[in-house]
Parts: sequence; C-alpha cells; structure tokens
Amino acid sequence: MPDNKDWKTRLIHSDAVVPEGFESLVTPVYRGSTVLFPRAAAARDQWNQHEVGYTYGLYGTPTNLELAARVCELENGFRTIITPGGQSALSLIHLALLKAGDHVLLPESIYGPNRMFSNHVLRRFGVDVSYYPPDAGSSIASFFKPNTTLVWVESPGSVTMEVQDVPAIAEAAHRHGALVALDNTWAAGIYFDAFAHGVDVTMQALTKYVGGHSDLLLGSVTVRDQKIHDRTIYDRLGETHQCLGFAASPDDCSLALRGMKTLAVRLKAVEQSALELAQWLAARPEVELVLHPALPSCPGHEFFQRDFTGASGLFSIVLQKRFSKDQVHAFVDALQLFKIGYSWGGVTSLVMTYDFESPKRPKYQHRLVRLYTGLESIADLKADVEQAFARVPA
Ligand SMILES: Cc1ncc(COP(=O)(O)O)c(C=O)c1O
Repeated sequence: MPDNKDWKTRLIHSDAVVPEGFESLVTPVYRGSTVLFPRAAAARDQWNQHEVGYTYGLYGTPTNLELAARVCELENGFRTIITPGGQSALSLIHLALLKAGDHVLLPESIYGPNRMFSNHVLRRFGVDVSYYPPDAGSSIASFFKPNTTLVWVESPGSVTMEVQDVPAIAEAAHRHGALVALDNTWAAGIYFDAFAHGVDVTMQALTKYVGGHSDLLLGSVTVRDQKIHDRTIYDRLGETHQCLGFAASPDDCSLALRGMKTLAVRLKAVEQSALELAQWLAARPEVELVLHPALPSCPGHEFFQRDFTGASGLFSIVLQKRFSKDQVHAFVDALQLFKIGYSWGGVTSLVMTYDFESPKRPKYQHRLVRLYTGLESIADLKADVEQAFARVPA
C-alpha cells in the first residue's frame, strides 16, 4: 500500500507512532470485539482461548482473562469464566450442567433469583427442581431422586444466613453421582475454601466484594479441576458461555481488578464492623435474634467455626414480636447512614427488609432486617441504629 493514503483512510489505518516501553502497575483495559488473525487459515471461532489463543472479544480480552486468572488463583481452582453478573454466573452453571429429565436440588435458603431461575426457566425446559432444608447435612440423601445430577449449596444462605454442612452434603451428592455447585459470594471466595470442602464448581457475584464500590456488575464461575468425576465440566461451561453470549465488559473487569487490590483491607474492616454491630444488637431490647454466622445464635454456627476462616459484612436481625410491619419499616426508614438498597459489598452500609411467609422457611415473617456494614465509623453506625430505634414507639 503506498504511503500517500487519503486522510479518511488514515483515520482507520494510521502510520502514527508512540514511544514504546510504558510500564505501570495497572492492567491495561483491552477493549475489542474483533480479534485479528495473521492469516486466513489461522481464523477460528473457538471459546477456549487458553488453548487456541485469542479469537473473539466475547470470550474475553486480556483484561477479562487476567481477572479470571486472579479469581481462579484465590479460589485454588483449575479455571474461571467471567460473566456479566452473579445472576448470569449461576444461570450458566445450571444451563451448562443440566438437561431435560435431570433433577436439581437447591437449599430453601438459596438466593431468591436462583430459585426464580430454577422454577421459571429450568422447569420450562423439563428439568425437575426441588428444595431441601439448609440444615440437611448428610440427611440430604433422602431428598435425592435417581435423576439428581446437581446439588446447590449456599453457605450462609441468603437473608436467613443458615450455615450449611457443605462437606457432608458434598459427600452424599458424590456418592449419588451428582455434582455440587456453591454460591460463594458471602465469603468472597476467600473465607470458605470451597474445593477443599468437596465442592465441584463455584460462582460468585464479583459485583459485591471484588468490585467493592457498588459501580459494576460481574460474576465468576470457577471449576475445581479439568475433569471432575470423569466429566469435562469446564468444556461444558465454556461451550455454553459461548452459546449464551455472556460477554463481560473489559472496563468492568478493569474496575474489578482495581477493587481486588484492596479486597483484603476492605474485607477485614467490614468483618470487624459487622461483628461489633451484631454483638451490640444482640444486647438490644428491640432485637429477638441475630443471624450472624460468627455468633452462636445463627443456625449452623458450628459449621462456620469448623469451615470458615473469617466472616464478611452481611448479616440479619429479627426484631421482637411486638414490631408490626409498619414499625419495622419506620425503623428502617429512620436510618440515615444505612441506605435502603440491594447488592452489598461496597463501602456504604445498607439495609433491607424481608417478609417470610412460606411454610418451609423460618417464621420470621416481616420482622427480618438484613444489614450490611460498610466502611463508616462503627460508632456512627451504632448511633444511627440507636436513633432509628428511638423513633419507633415501643
Ligand atoms: C448470594 C448472591 N448470589 C448471586 C447474586 C447475583 O449477583 P448480581 O447482582 O451480580 O447478578 C447476588 C446479588 O445480590 C447474591 O446476593
């Protein structure tokens, strides 16, 4: 091509040069849908870029793959796939590992939208879905059916915080030939070593602690090994990820890589604040029960002590029976530092109310309040709760 290209062509095919040799501490944001091939014969559309090299932006640019590799390293897994959010991570696991006619078992305490996905999507595609009590332990075997192929665990469970006996459940599931999937978001993939406790595949909402600043949505799916019980789980996840088109933004991955650098100090800070607030709340006359895994009042506390290396910033309380629904709402509305909103794991303290009416769930009804402690001063957080209680007449 002559070097007298028209300026319009130069806008696309420039000969401009910049100095080389820039080195910084930060992973560059590689954006890109199209990936260039050196020769026609080298072009292919294959998801497994660890084996065939980069082929298409959908499967991740180097920024996405670095985040994946770092999550995988922290979880001691074989490989991680990044998804556009925690919800897509958990639906990827379902869709990759189940087929019509299979049976999937989930704890009653599973994250609500996981239940919704199972009930509304999986059932529509002919998957048998049922639930087991989160405290089942090895007695989970009585819930198996001949076609049970996947068992979910989430420990502690969403909102009601039951800590599960994951090793006992995993052992029973494996004896039955089923795989075990864990939602490891609460422990940030750090405080519970899933693969050492028998889990086969984990997911996390990186939206929470890894992101850490409430400004992105991302998820991860990590597999324990290349082959699990003679099955190539990773290949099924990769192929399904390609078919579903679950592309994650490199910009969000870059923010998550930044968040990851301060994960240790943020986790430690929210752990300390949450624990101090939970202990303080346990002594308050307005509170009937504190559901914090590190306190004996939390169902499954003994498994927390046995299996976890730390706690994070999310826990729930149950207010005394005298609190009407309106009074619970008045208490929550009176909070000033705790903001009302979903998706915890950032720097801001959050609060949310829940209603438990289902016969198979604990009888907390409207009195359950979930709290997340952020990075504010613990003295100010306690003062905020105290003034909010004072605004609700006894
Ligand atoms: C336990 C748990 N799993 C999964 C998710 C889904 O994550 P995302 O909001 O990134 O889709 C959430 C989000 O609230 C969660 O709390």
